Amino acid sequence: MRKLLPLLSTNPHGGGRSALTCRYRCGDACFHEVPNTSDNEYVGDVIAGALSRRSALRAAAVVTVASAAGGALALGNAPEAVARPQQPGTGHGHGHGSGKADGARGLRFTPVAPNTADKVTVPAGYSQNVVIRWGEPILRGAPAFDSEKQTAKAQAGQFGYNNDFLSLLPLRGEHDRQVLVANHEYTDEVLMFRGYDAADPTREQVEIAWAAHGLSVVVVQEEHRTGKLAPVARHHLNRRLHTTSEFRVTGPAAGSALLRTSVDPTGRKVLGTLNNCAGGTTPWGTTLHGEENFNQYFANGSSATDKRYGVGTGATERKWERFDKRFDLKQEPNEVHRFGWVVELDPYDPDSTPRKRTALGRFKHEAAQPRLTDDGRPVVYMGDDERFDYFYKFVSGKRMKKGNSRAAREHNLTLLDEGTLYVAKLTGDSPAAEIDGTGKHPADGEFDGSGVWIPLATGDVSHVPGMTAEEVYVFTRLAGDKVGATKMDRPEDVEPSPRTGRVYVALTNNTDRGKPGKAGADEANPRNLNKHGQILELAENWDDPASDGFAWRLFLVAGDPNDPATYFAGYPKEKVSPISCPDNVAFDPHGNLWISTDGAQLGSHDGLFGVATQGERRGELKQFLTVPKGAETCGPIIQDRRVLVAVQHPGEIDGASVEKPASVWPDGPGKIVRPSVVAVWRTDGRDIGV
Ligand code: FEO
Ligand code: CA
Ligand code: CA
Ligand code: CA
Repeated sequence: MRKLLPLLSTNPHGGGRSALTCRYRCGDACFHEVPNTSDNEYVGDVIAGALSRRSALRAAAVVTVASAAGGALALGNAPEAVARPQQPGTGHGHGHGSGKADGARGLRFTPVAPNTADKVTVPAGYSQNVVIRWGEPILRGAPAFDSEKQTAKAQAGQFGYNNDFLSLLPLRGEHDRQVLVANHEYTDEVLMFRGYDAADPTREQVEIAWAAHGLSVVVVQEEHRTGKLAPVARHHLNRRLHTTSEFRVTGPAAGSALLRTSVDPTGRKVLGTLNNCAGGTTPWGTTLHGEENFNQYFANGSSATDKRYGVGTGATERKWERFDKRFDLKQEPNEVHRFGWVVELDPYDPDSTPRKRTALGRFKHEAAQPRLTDDGRPVVYMGDDERFDYFYKFVSGKRMKKGNSRAAREHNLTLLDEGTLYVAKLTGDSPAAEIDGTGKHPADGEFDGSGVWIPLATGDVSHVPGMTAEEVYVFTRLAGDKVGATKMDRPEDVEPSPRTGRVYVALTNNTDRGKPGKAGADEANPRNLNKHGQILELAENWDDPASDGFAWRLFLVAGDPNDPATYFAGYPKEKVSPISCPDNVAFDPHGNLWISTDGAQLGSHDGLFGVATQGERRGELKQFLTVPKGAETCGPIIQDRRVLVAVQHPGEIDGASVEKPASVWPDGPGKIVRPSVVAVWRTDGRDIGV
């Protein structure tokens, strides 16, 4: 008997994110025309020019291997990993209220039901604490947070606003401590300042917002025998980097005329990082931070050199251009070229200047997650989060040096400056006529196929006809257009599995897919008006770092499991939680994929889910937590004994303000709503989900 998990039927906010979120987070990206108007159908001669015959043959070989294995992603993976699950016995489900908590190892908890509670809801038997809130002092001399007495000087020493990506790094020599690195993507002025006048912000408010953006480094202390964490204020590693901090530009486009401004004629020194969304942690102990919707901070976009990044005409929402002319393109047209990069930070060196890595290209970087090839070279996967934009990778030309010696660390800080930048072209293996835009599976039973990595530039050498290497790096979207990259449904976070090496890409949604004049469904993006998104699984040939071919399939097609278009890697749908709008992804120590959502369109608040990627339970998706009203679940980290999430933009509901809050999280009525990091652990002290 088919018995689905409970699902809320109405969305109190009309579905998806509130208009407030759209305005402050992405500069209303979804209300503007899609910036990708290119007609970039596959251009055979361009590809042929860009790919060697050898690599093209290899790509073809990958397709053959995949086909021979019955459509499995077969690049060196055990067949077990793609075995179709048998229908489990009906007595072993994990329906709500059953009290049972079976599942794949690491996912043995009773799933949280979809809900709209104004709190972080965790499974029975789990506890939580707020690790750190917006405004908590982390640097020496910073005052305690007082929402009524905010100053830019105070904020520059306090934890920033709207925490997104999180990384936890080990801290040797200090017992039970780790280094937490957090992104602060953007500010919600109307929820930060009492009486905020959006038409006429004060200089102090603007400077507070500058200081509330950026990155935080803060050492955290573990509580003995639990997963609880607390910040260690004034630790010598603690840092804040924000809109007026110094960043160095490195790699092949550093110093380019396109990056020079009146204040920085060298094109190598930038003040600030903006809209840091997700990121990554490198095997050499640094963190990567995507600069995503940077376009929204710049006024007078009609003066922009290119029109592919969506800089708006006229004034900006936050009016920063009134207080610093570099945010006015009419006065400083190149300043916008100095944002939209991946930033690399060395959290272990509090005196280091973080770098903007031009070799990784410039676009709306959601995230950047590296994995090493078998011969030790970093490969960094990156999504450009915009409807119909592309998926990229960078392959370093250098090998990582192991160890923590000064020489090794210095060498490893150059790994992301030399290599090749590629963009993905995906081809389905089913006849195009079978992909009808409804999400109906083609006759071969899967949305799957092969792909090629199209090289865009290697160091100073461009592989794109008509573009110099510098142009490829600074206007990477245009390079992707020219070579016929596949228009994706908003590539968000990406994570290679530490177990299998397969790469998982969250494609969050694309409600413009299939609209008149827009690209229609293809096998990797198979639903028109795609509200719920999908997760792509990609297999690389790790023993050949120069490999240009890959195999792919859709691992999840998200939505209400009642919806026939949904797909959970073939797992029985009556045994999974509903999910919508996958955004951030992470792996736990058992090899399960964890997925957080942004803008879920099924009536529930956003949440965090775990899903097995291997074995008989592959595709069994279970909800672990939900976040408060208006919030997005970000930055998940899953360790043996704790789950860490960033609760971003709680209370961000249309019409809400400091005076009229929509949420009272985390401190209850009468207290200002504060984006915060939350740790969750098992109350009995055992590992998560075992
Ligand atoms: Fe900032 Fe693409 O989410
Ligand atoms: Ca197929
Ligand atoms: Ca995101
Ligand atoms: Ca998002």
